[in-house]
Amino acid sequence: MQKKKYLLFLGAWACLFMAGVGACRKPAPRTIVPGTVWHDTEGNPINAHGGGILYHDGTYYWYGEYKGDSTRYSPDICVGWRAEAGGVACYSSADLAEWTFEGVVLPPDTADPRSDLHPSQIIERPKVVYNDKTEKFVMWVHIDDPNYEKAHAGVAVADSPTGPFTYLGSCKPNGEDSRDQTLFKDDDGRAYHIYSSEWNKTLHIGLLNEDYTRHTGTYTRNFVGQYREAPAVFKHEGKYYLIPSGCTGWDPNTAQCAVADSMLGEWTVIGNPCKGEGAETTFGAQSTFVLPVEGQEGRLVAMFDRWNKTDLDDSRYVWLPIAFTDGRPVIEWKDAWNLDE
Ligand code: DGJ
Repeated sequence: MQKKKYLLFLGAWACLFMAGVGACRKPAPRTIVPGTVWHDTEGNPINAHGGGILYHDGTYYWYGEYKGDSTRYSPDICVGWRAEAGGVACYSSADLAEWTFEGVVLPPDTADPRSDLHPSQIIERPKVVYNDKTEKFVMWVHIDDPNYEKAHAGVAVADSPTGPFTYLGSCKPNGEDSRDQTLFKDDDGRAYHIYSSEWNKTLHIGLLNEDYTRHTGTYTRNFVGQYREAPAVFKHEGKYYLIPSGCTGWDPNTAQCAVADSMLGEWTVIGNPCKGEGAETTFGAQSTFVLPVEGQEGRLVAMFDRWNKTDLDDSRYVWLPIAFTDGRPVIEWKDAWNLDE
């Protein structure tokens, strides 16, 4: 009897000790390994290309193109290689390292070949912002025909970050082309749509209306005649930065950075933010978004896509930290890096 009591006592202490070790254990390092296959929590490769991230109520939501797995070469379309458009996928994460698949939140419309969302069409570069007034999540996305001649922007809304998103339709903002695109919501609640226009020659920045679902008619023309696409926008210490790529289909090219005092102001080009080996081709990748990390003042993550044009759903993600040197953003290659460093 005495011995049994002693063993119980010992067992209780062992349990308390193990619980203590667990509680004190440091969280696993949030390591980013650019260019490798990234898996979701179910072990499937993450399929969210040309995407962007929304932080909302303690969770990050990553929206991106859900590419079909049948990439084919089509000599009759301008970009050659294409995969079926599978709609827009969403993944959620508390720490930017572990991602849970939340489903295809803007699904393709397989029934209607004339729909913007039919898999035969182009559904690219989705971005989502939250509207505090309407309490809706608003998605803008590049909608096109297979030859990229339609040049529309599509808009969809949802009550929850994980959808389902209701598609409202597509348009030519202010009557002009819209291809590669992103969104930027400023601290004052105004939201902007940034998109390659005029046959990709010029990048437009358009102010959205109060509910973020329409253009207001106020817009600026930037990088006139310079063929920039894949825009990513961020704000740092009161200035606005824009990183677009060049315009070479699925093949990588040199990124550029421009800075402005306001979104609709004058943008000054300050050169390639990428430095070191591989910088001339953006480390074999193309910009899509810049994410400010929550709770880490000044910590910015530059998100790029490394397209695999012959197998598009196997395209990889290249995320790299942005540092500032002499007031200019600098992005250097890293084989692996830790979000907490
Ligand atoms: C470059 C764009 O940035 C991509 O989103 C995609 O549209 C490819 N062109 C197609 O070639």
